[in-house]
Amino acid sequence: MSITTESELIGMKKVSDVVAYTLKEMKNYVKPGMTTKELDDFGASILKDFGANSAPFMTYKFPGWTCISVNNEFCHGIPSKNKILKEGDLINIDVSAELDGYWSDNGNSFVLGEDINQHQNLVNASKNILQKAISNIKGGVKIADIGLLMETEAKKRGYKVIKNLGGHGIGRSLHEQPDELLNYKNRFDQRRFKKNSVVAIETFISTSSTYTVELNDGWTMVGNKGGFMAQHEHTIVVTDGKPIILTEMNGVWN
Ligand code: CO
Ligand code: CO
Repeated sequence: MSITTESELIGMKKVSDVVAYTLKEMKNYVKPGMTTKELDDFGASILKDFGANSAPFMTYKFPGWTCISVNNEFCHGIPSKNKILKEGDLINIDVSAELDGYWSDNGNSFVLGEDINQHQNLVNASKNILQKAISNIKGGVKIADIGLLMETEAKKRGYKVIKNLGGHGIGRSLHEQPDELLNYKNRFDQRRFKKNSVVAIETFISTSSTYTVELNDGWTMVGNKGGFMAQHEHTIVVTDGKPIILTEMNGVWN
């Protein structure tokens, strides 16, 4: 969406605070031995308290309130009472929700407890790349140039990017134009970021895969060449200068 009134900005700030707070609280709550269903139930209770609805459920009938992906699962992992989290797991929580007709989206990959499987480098790379990408976005900047920046920064750190996932416009629904905000340069993409538009910017930084493929459950995505992936996502408003980071409260950069 494009923000045209003060009340639209207030609506977007409200739902963004809710998804950011929920994500932060879920990250604080998760412990080894917990199932991903317990973690999702905790997130669901916070969203419900605010009167917010799960965006993936409303949009796609996703079987959960939030997406929780663990280790070889890259994204869209289904919360399960059979999936028990362990020390050193690479976890991605993605929380998106609707409140009063406004939609916001954010995600965070992190290591559970001690980094016994050495995932922290990948996580840090993804965080840094999100930070760099967002600080370079303003009205008039080419979308493909931000993709190039993300891919270049990933390569510099010895990582790859996933080519079939991307950020997206958001605001009045979960996925809006401009879609396919890719993590690499699409030389056919002539589009530019527009001032006042609301977009979800997300990284997809991986150790070995360059595409994701869906498992038989119809949701969970894994890598075409295995390995691991880290994702960090903020919903932002594009301006003439530094973007307004609506989901800043999630503390992804801390
Ligand atoms: Co998103
Ligand atoms: Co998301």
